[in-house]
Amino acid sequence: MSESKNIDKILVSQHIKDLLKNLNLPEKVYIFDTTLRDGEQTPGISFTLQEKIQIATQLNKLGVDIIEAGMPIVSEGDYLACKEISKLGLDAEIIGLARINREDIDKVIECDMDAIHVFIATSELHMKEKLKMTPEQVLSAITTEIEYAKEHFGKKIEFSAEDATRSDLDFLIKANKMAIEAGATRINIPDTVGTVVPRVYSYIIQKNIEQFPKGVRVSVHCHNDFGLATANTLAGVEMGASQVQTTVLGIGERTGNAAMEEVVMSLYALYGISTNIKYKYLYETSKLVEKLSGLEIPVNFPMVGTNAFKHESGIHAHAVIENPRTYEPLTPELIGINRKDTLTDILEQSIEVGKHTGGHSLGAKLESFGIIVNDVQFNEIRNRVKKIGDKGKKITDMDLYEIAISVIGEVPNEEQTIKLEELSVICGKNVTPSATIRLKVKTNNDWAEKVAADIGVGPVDASYNALAKVWEQFGYGKLFLSEYHLDAITGGTDALGRVKVKLEDMFGNYINARAVNPDIVMSSIQAMINGMNLYLMKFRKK
Ligand code: KIV
Ligand code: ZN
Repeated sequence: MSESKNIDKILVSQHIKDLLKNLNLPEKVYIFDTTLRDGEQTPGISFTLQEKIQIATQLNKLGVDIIEAGMPIVSEGDYLACKEISKLGLDAEIIGLARINREDIDKVIECDMDAIHVFIATSELHMKEKLKMTPEQVLSAITTEIEYAKEHFGKKIEFSAEDATRSDLDFLIKANKMAIEAGATRINIPDTVGTVVPRVYSYIIQKNIEQFPKGVRVSVHCHNDFGLATANTLAGVEMGASQVQTTVLGIGERTGNAAMEEVVMSLYALYGISTNIKYKYLYETSKLVEKLSGLEIPVNFPMVGTNAFKHESGIHAHAVIENPRTYEPLTPELIGINRKDTLTDILEQSIEVGKHTGGHSLGAKLESFGIIVNDVQFNEIRNRVKKIGDKGKKITDMDLYEIAISVIGEVPNEEQTIKLEELSVICGKNVTPSATIRLKVKTNNDWAEKVAADIGVGPVDASYNALAKVWEQFGYGKLFLSEYHLDAITGGTDALGRVKVKLEDMFGNYINARAVNPDIVMSSIQAMINGMNLYLMKFRKK
């Protein structure tokens, strides 16, 4: 049962409630998640099979209705993921994407999926420039191939006219109606390049729905090129669309798709429309996708960003103490956020842990942050806390949080390819900064020692240049350090330095990695090595 009936809605005036009542809103909206398909088309993101299974399982726990597991024709990896996810026996419907052609459709059939999502472009631009087909050929392919899918697959068929919003409206409606006649029971209307505004999108949805027989489910799929994906998605729902295609954190082609977090919580809180989503698992789903995608949730991301439930000004903070609804549209607990998860809270508590902190209290502290670790990660966190404690530094909750997050984000010890053995740097006045680095590097299951030295404009630059020399010996091409951020976590000269890096190859694949250490040169180099290990694990496999 949807949870929305049990929880009070956003506090708006009766006038607004009356206005909402007069809209043609569907009673229920189905969530079609395309994180594993359109989401994985995000430049730089690539999930392994295990990661895809983990995400599908989590999406199922969250309560999404449909999981688009991939497009089997695209690669061996997608094919396998579609097959394996279909075998999991999840409650969610598992759907595979196919172009309107025999080979693509047969691949989905081979994967034994619950449903097929077929698409072909209907805009003049796409038909002429990309497909090299006439409009008549497109219409004929829709009929022939959907009839083929109906006969040979025999399960649910969803049809998308790609670039629908830039298509001639009459032609779009004609194509959709032909798809329905041939056997499609769900019609998705994509704003492929994110080029409409909410009013225009509602009009397109309305005109289509008017022409469809009853019982055909209309779905919306919006891209975020102008930052309108969620607004357009909701505009489609206002016109009666009862299915939304979204991705976790809005990942997807270019600037992404409509974000599930925004859409689902707007449906619940702003419209009072029910879905099958179990809101309490929303935050952990976003955090899982953050971790596996290597992306970092922007602090101001709606609902799940670090700042979503933080209050800076005294006026706000005092009002929230009296009644959180004064400045919070929802309670964070609703979507599974423990208030202690927010960095401000952690900083405010600032309870110190150190080298004498026992395993039990360390475990309790991690648990209070909502951080779940396995035994190996736990021991690694404890070792790092001890090492830093041995140097005489007290570790605040904030430090501990950072240490835990960086350990969780690292490649497991046994899968690492590069390990730092020694780093020495020389810098100061009137000397050219230089660094020597000694690494252990695994090739063909054997560990070899590599030493390299270089100079740079400063100690971090010199160390990175030395590290890059070892990297080049792998022969995987250059890895560019495209972003570098250094922060002191808490005040003082003994503060832990947190370094976040983004490493990018020449194909646009990238990895975000981080590390913390009281020595900022060490945290810089460790973050880069963490990034290299992650890169090798993700992209070399692919
Ligand atoms: O954006 C788009 O048009 C798509 C279709 C395949 C549905 O992703
Ligand atoms: Zn798309």
